[in-house]
Amino acid sequence: MAMTETETKKETGTPPYWVSRMFSDIYDINDDPAGQHALEACAVSKMLEANSSLGAPLVALPNMLQEPCRTDYLTNMLSTFKNVGMVRHNEQYVAQMPEDYVAPLAALFADGVHRELGVELVSNGVGRYIHYRGTGAHHFIHVDNPSFGDATALVVLDYVPPTEPNTGSPTETRFVTSSGVQSFRSEPGNAVVFDGRYLPHGRTPLCEGETVTIALLGMMRK
Ligand SMILES: [Fe+2]
Repeated sequence: MAMTETETKKETGTPPYWVSRMFSDIYDINDDPAGQHALEACAVSKMLEANSSLGAPLVALPNMLQEPCRTDYLTNMLSTFKNVGMVRHNEQYVAQMPEDYVAPLAALFADGVHRELGVELVSNGVGRYIHYRGTGAHHFIHVDNPSFGDATALVVLDYVPPTEPNTGSPTETRFVTSSGVQSFRSEPGNAVVFDGRYLPHGRTPLCEGETVTIALLGMMRK
């Protein structure tokens, strides 16, 4: 298949693009998380995992963002989308998080990671609101650009379930770890922190009527 001009430019881009391309070729986000392709991708992921700044593939922080903070961030996201604007990128609607909202959220992530792993993280100033909507919207398996920091921190701000609950699998975030593909459902308030440079991850396709809103922060080692 001939490459488009955009794809040609990507081919000469940063190394993470090549790593993402390789993982996505081995394990498609729609593949069985316990199947042969998953096993092969996990074996490759093992070679990357030793580089993780966290000393672990990821850390889950259930119910990290509680009320009324969650609602406050969701309200701020809607306000930012409306008043500042957003861009569409890879089936995501993205806006920059205001600086005064980044710091308190980063402190919550830092506390959680320190408690669970003993690793000290601070914000690198990067904060984004991301909204997924539209049947089939997804994010292919990829690794994050190093400019995002030593760790990626993700918290679910809002989730709307499928219109017809029994017509497909609800969307989930998948992580290709050395010990298997781990899946996380989009429960509001739940968070996960991972070194996205060395842990391939992606989102499975949304069902009809399903939407997911998340906040992503970039973190660095103290
Ligand atoms: Fe990512």
